[in-house]
Amino acid sequence: MGKIKRIGVLTSGGDAPGMNAAIRAVVRTAIYHKMQVVGIRHGYHGMIHGHFKELRSYSVSDILQRGGTILKTARSAEFRTPEGRKMAYENLKKEGIEAVVVIGGDGSLTGARVFCDEYYDIPFVGIPGTIDNDIYGTDYTIGYDTALNTVVEAVDKIRDTASSHNRLFFIEVMGRDAGFIAVHSGIACGSEAIFVPEVKNQASGLKDYLEKGFKRKKSSNLIIVAEGDEEGGAMAIAEKVKDDFKEYDVRVSILGHIQRGGTPSAFDRVTASKFGFYAVEALLDDQKSVMVGLKDSEIVNVPFSKVIKMHKNVDSSSLEMAEILSV
Ligand code: F6P
Repeated sequence: MGKIKRIGVLTSGGDAPGMNAAIRAVVRTAIYHKMQVVGIRHGYHGMIHGHFKELRSYSVSDILQRGGTILKTARSAEFRTPEGRKMAYENLKKEGIEAVVVIGGDGSLTGARVFCDEYYDIPFVGIPGTIDNDIYGTDYTIGYDTALNTVVEAVDKIRDTASSHNRLFFIEVMGRDAGFIAVHSGIACGSEAIFVPEVKNQASGLKDYLEKGFKRKKSSNLIIVAEGDEEGGAMAIAEKVKDDFKEYDVRVSILGHIQRGGTPSAFDRVTASKFGFYAVEALLDDQKSVMVGLKDSEIVNVPFSKVIKMHKNVDSSSLEMAEILSV
C-alpha cells in the first residue's frame, strides 16, 4: 500500500452525467484505505483560489444517480498560465493534499499533464469524463452513454413530427471536435445522413442523396449534424439546402445542453464507479500521470503523454455502414 494519506478530487470542463458516481467512488475507496479526501470545487479555478471542502462518506450519499457534479466545474484560463499553476501548487501544499484525481475531458487532462511536468511531487491520476467520448486510450468516457440516449430519445420524437409533415430536419448535436454522438445517434435513429467534424466535404454528397430521396418520396429526412462540422452547424447547412431545394420543407432543431444533463444511465454509473475505484488504486500503486480507461471491457492505465498526443477517431466504417443502411 502507498503512503498517501490525503487526496484531492475535482471535476473540470463540461459536466457529464456520471461524474457524481465517480466522485462517490473516489471518496469511498479512499476512505476504505484510510485516506482523507478533499473536494476541490470549481475545477482548477478552485485549486488556484482555495475552494476546498473535506469530504466524508456521507458527503457523497444520494448522488450516484444524479446528473451534473456536486463539486461544480469550470474551464480555467488561469490554470493555463505558469503563475496560475504555481498558485494551485502552493494551495495544494498548504492544504496537505498529496495526490489529486481529476475527472474531465481532453483540456482537463492536458492541464493535469502540464502541471505534473512542472511539479513532480504531487501525483495526478485522470478519469475521462465528457459526453463527447473523444479521449484516446478509452473506449468510453463518463457521460457519453447517457448523452447518446438523450439524443436518441429526442431524435425519435422529431422523427414522428417529421414523418407527419414530410419534412427535412437538420438536427444539431454536441461535439465541437468529435462526431461520436452524431455517428452513433445517427445509426440508432436511422438518420438519412450524418455530418461530423472529422470528415470534410460532406455537403456535396448530401445534395445527391437528397435528390434521390426526393424522387423516392421518403416521408421524412433527418440529418444529424455535429456542432463542430466544417459547414458551421445545422443552421448553416439548412440555409444552403433551402436555396438549392426550394421544394423541401426544411426545419432545424438544435438539441443543446439537454444532452449534458439528466440522470446517468446504468452503464455510466457502473463505468464511473469503476474509474473512481481504480483511480484511487492507481495512486496507492504509486502510479502518476495516468488516466484510468476502459479498453475491450478491461480497466487500463494510460499515460497522460499518450492520451494527449494521440487522437481518437470516429470509426469510418460505422459512417459507411450508416450510409448504406439509410438508403
Ligand atoms: O465538452 C463537452 C461539450 O458538451 C461539447 O460537446 C460542447 O462543444 C461543449 O462542451 C459546450 O461547452 P459549454 O457548455 O461551455 O458551452
